[in-house]
Amino acid sequence: MNDAPCQSRTPISDWNGFAFETRQVHAGEYRDANRGLRVPPVALSAGYVFEDFDDGVARFNSTSTDPIYSRQGNPTNQVAEQRLASLEGGSAAVTVSSGQAAITSAILTLAQTGDHIVSTASIYGGTRILFGRSIARAGIGVDYVWNIDDDDEWQRLIRPETKAIYTESVPNPLNDITDLRRIAEVAERYHLPVIVDNTVGTPALISPFAHGAHITVHSTTKFLSGHGAAVGGAIVDGGSFDWLAASRAGRSYPLITRSLRPGLGSYVDRFGSTAFAQAAREQVVNDIGPTFAAFNGFLLHQGLETLSLRMERHVDSSLRIAEWLEEQPEVLAVHYAGLPSNARYELAKRDYGGRTGAVFGVEVRGGEAGAKAFFNGLQIFSRMTGIGDTRSMVLHPLTSTHASFAPELNQRLGVTPGLLRLSVGLEHAEDLVNDLRGALDRVP
Ligand SMILES: Cc1ncc(COP(=O)(O)O)c(C=O)c1O
Repeated sequence: MNDAPCQSRTPISDWNGFAFETRQVHAGEYRDANRGLRVPPVALSAGYVFEDFDDGVARFNSTSTDPIYSRQGNPTNQVAEQRLASLEGGSAAVTVSSGQAAITSAILTLAQTGDHIVSTASIYGGTRILFGRSIARAGIGVDYVWNIDDDDEWQRLIRPETKAIYTESVPNPLNDITDLRRIAEVAERYHLPVIVDNTVGTPALISPFAHGAHITVHSTTKFLSGHGAAVGGAIVDGGSFDWLAASRAGRSYPLITRSLRPGLGSYVDRFGSTAFAQAAREQVVNDIGPTFAAFNGFLLHQGLETLSLRMERHVDSSLRIAEWLEEQPEVLAVHYAGLPSNARYELAKRDYGGRTGAVFGVEVRGGEAGAKAFFNGLQIFSRMTGIGDTRSMVLHPLTSTHASFAPELNQRLGVTPGLLRLSVGLEHAEDLVNDLRGALDRVP
């Protein structure tokens, strides 16, 4: 097709070679040939008109990249996808309706009934629930590795049916950052792709692909959209995993390496470095339908425009607050890897320049009673489940995200009765410190 609306969806350029700050504003944008709209608009259309018979065929066999139906892709979401892929350093991204949908879709692209995933133990509680319930019910097993430095533990857990290693860059809620390079080493040894949930890390603080990861997933609900208004998710393809070599080594990824129908090459043949993303989009997301609403796509691509600026403030304030909290007599521990007292400080310096995000744990004295008094005493911090918003938030993990886990598991995870999760927002840091002081005054 060579008419104007089709051209309007073509990015001006991929903005390769430009700085992060420039790409977050421009990557994925397109020239609107109809009215010259400067801001990519909300494309509220469930479907798209085919120019003629051949155009319809081309869209269905992916020789045309023009959209078919919004369950599979939408021009507004495409802006967000290209922008996020550029910022993360990936080859392509797929947006979906939530972070949970992104994790589920990524796993279903790699694994089927009888297959298996190995995950690091410290991950978001909702993901652990997803793995133990819906992923388990789909017949995909998940085992957890507790000490990523222990080769024997990996050896015991990784089986012929294992299809991926799953981890979080900056785990929620304990900020116990993961050594992604170590995970990548293990993955290489076993020919496995590494999926990293980079929701708390964000591409502004870390690029998991530069540390050897192959796929990232995001809850775009959080820092990427940034304002707490829209639930969303994304999968980013790092473009570097060799699917054919893994298959030759005995790990099969049929959705990616096999042909869909006679006459059509496999996704690897047809899409090369974006094979995983295309397979996820066309064979999983399109099938099960966790569609990202175009309005939320708009909020995401607009949110991304200010990501680095917001993260700078989120992290400056987090460091100030974490350091301050550590000095307070009512505080037993502050779980922030960027603090010199933290066991992961050296790793935090190496991979994050000491700036490990804005979501971390604080343990107050007095167990659950202490946590309750502190929680109820806060005025600026919103008492709610959520992170990565302009507004600061507080949650008591043991009675919320982790409430369904056995006490022994929570103990092992470090989720104690006195632990609170803070997400530091964009309010003035001294106002937040004063708020925290007022709440600590209530701790018995
Ligand atoms: C690290 C992480 N991953 C995934 C999710 C799930 O995202 P969503 O709520 O958008 O489904 C969350 C939600 O808090 C999260 O913190």
